[in-house]
Amino acid sequence: MCGIFAYLNINVSRERRYILEVLFNGLRRLEYRGYDSAGMSIDSTSNLDSDFAPPPILFRKEGNIESLVKAVYHEVAATDLNLEESFSVHAGIAHTRWATHGEPAPRNSHPQTSDPEKEFLVVHNGVITNYEVLKETLVRHGFTFESETDTEVIPKLAKFIFDNMNEEGDRSLTFSQVVLEVMRHLEGAYALIFKSRHYPNELIACRRGSPLLLGVKELNEEASIGESSNDTEFLSRNGQPKELFLSSDASALVEHTKKVLMIEDGEVVHLKDGGASIFKFDHAKSEHNGKFTRPASVHRALSVLEMEVEQINKGKYEHYMQKEIHEQPESLTTTMRGRLIRGGSCKSKSVLLGGLKDHLKIIRRSRRIVFIGCGTSYNAALAARPILEELSGIPVAMEIASDLLDRQGPIYREDTTVFVSQSGETADTLRALEYALENGALCVGITNTVGSAIARNTHCGVHINAGCEIGVASTKAYTSQIVVMAMLALAIGDDTISSQARREAIIDGLFDLPSKVKEVLKLDQEMNDLAKLLIAEQSLLVFGRGYNYATALEGALKVKEVALMHSEGILAGEMKHGPLALVDENLPIVVVATRDACFSKQQSVIQQLHARKGRLIVMCTKGDAASVCVSGSCRIIEVPQVEDCLQPLLAYHLTVLRGHNVDQPRNLAKSYTSK
Ligand code: F6R
Repeated sequence: MCGIFAYLNINVSRERRYILEVLFNGLRRLEYRGYDSAGMSIDSTSNLDSDFAPPPILFRKEGNIESLVKAVYHEVAATDLNLEESFSVHAGIAHTRWATHGEPAPRNSHPQTSDPEKEFLVVHNGVITNYEVLKETLVRHGFTFESETDTEVIPKLAKFIFDNMNEEGDRSLTFSQVVLEVMRHLEGAYALIFKSRHYPNELIACRRGSPLLLGVKELNEEASIGESSNDTEFLSRNGQPKELFLSSDASALVEHTKKVLMIEDGEVVHLKDGGASIFKFDHAKSEHNGKFTRPASVHRALSVLEMEVEQINKGKYEHYMQKEIHEQPESLTTTMRGRLIRGGSCKSKSVLLGGLKDHLKIIRRSRRIVFIGCGTSYNAALAARPILEELSGIPVAMEIASDLLDRQGPIYREDTTVFVSQSGETADTLRALEYALENGALCVGITNTVGSAIARNTHCGVHINAGCEIGVASTKAYTSQIVVMAMLALAIGDDTISSQARREAIIDGLFDLPSKVKEVLKLDQEMNDLAKLLIAEQSLLVFGRGYNYATALEGALKVKEVALMHSEGILAGEMKHGPLALVDENLPIVVVATRDACFSKQQSVIQQLHARKGRLIVMCTKGDAASVCVSGSCRIIEVPQVEDCLQPLLAYHLTVLRGHNVDQPRNLAKSYTSK
């Protein structure tokens, strides 16, 4: 996954330094999407009246955004580029990369270019699946490639089209015609922003499969009062000073504007002459027969972002992950807000999930419920499976998205498939969704991203409303996902009288959850002390069973991905079938043994581990220390009955103490929009 960003100021004077800083800040906000290299392109002069402007300036650097910032200012100083030069209109593009094709290196960073003269420049998020075929064709036509990326074919294709489809000496082809023709040849997933010397002061963005938003800031807000400034229509009004932003997600827009247009799949946005026109690309109707027909224009209301700037700042915390762990009491409250009902006329306690209400009957009649997701989202579904099975009485199957696709596992028309994804854009989960749709299953989405591909392409669903999660390792989204799935179970089981008392008890438990989590978060110092003990270890095992098997998997995943320590979640019932061989007095083992149906079985696991001199850290319900550790030799962590958020705390301190970057784990990105 990568992040793309662009900034276009129109009829408002901005110095080069300002433009650079807007682009840098955009990239900083998107850095969680990929941080192994970055790049940007700005204009070399404010005098771009000619048809064919001088080549834009290109900066590309391996490493994180701050390495790019340093390199840019270094180059600016070396070349005497005037930072005070003013631009009344300027189109800049920028990119932060998580490498898929080609190692992190300047030549593989974006913007990718058409030729040394930089006639076309492109930033891309996604993956072009037919790039090899396109590359072969372009090479046959004399193009030389400098990178190993799939993206490089895009600007080269644009140049090829521009050179070959314009009549001799005639430059009548518009920028959007060039891009539409490029799109006609591309397969795969993409969000793209194009900049070109042939079309100075213009930008084109388009998407298929990867997210993209347009942010609109009117600088003369009074002038637009009473006018239709909330509709895309107003964008075409020329003359008004405004700033336009394109971004992979809202976090890079919110500090500038809350007015956004969620660009939809197949849409092309052309920013030109002080306005924006938007139209829909239809692959089926795009066959070029010598004539270009411009697709129909799109007009629709702009959305207003609900996000606040504070949400994307670290505030008093040192890291986003730490902040997001501590936000859980609020994020859980927001997840449940308006959905849990206590009191009222007919039923005393119930759950209302607006996004599912028209589909609940079909779900209840399903032959199976199949949870599909990756990583943490899969673990969250695993944590919710027992409640769902219990309250719905429907068999629940678990599928890791990539594995379902590898096996082409059976999915039936009578199935309800539930796609769990924080980002709503994970490539494997999206492919699995396509597969389930092809097989006729009902598809339900559970995601944290409004307008994401999963939210849009499922039949119905629930947003988890956990708020923006910037730390790459998911924490608050995980707990909110579990709560949403518990509410899903309550909603499905809502017509069963025999389980009403149980449902009401769970609803009461959900109401109490934020305060329990607050209590758990007080263990911060205790977790820090424990992390100090484990700092030099090579390995950690986490044993859980029943509801807490998912807790064990997720805890181990967090330790692995951020603290870079080997760690494994183990189903305690499987202990005797292999893992017991690892136990000795050195290997630290966390056992989750809270009060639930598996408590007595976990007590016996602890005894067996103890008999092999296991080095035990036991997590138990408050007051249970003596009954879980008869010998008194275990390290005890006492938690209230709800403890899902504890493992992220442990992983956080371990990471900091081991000197790793908590928010940007090595080799990982926030979500994977390519295979
Ligand atoms: C780990 C983590 C990942 C994601 C996985 C799927 O902390 O966040 O395991 O859960 O990459 O991403 P989403 O949930 O966006 O589909």
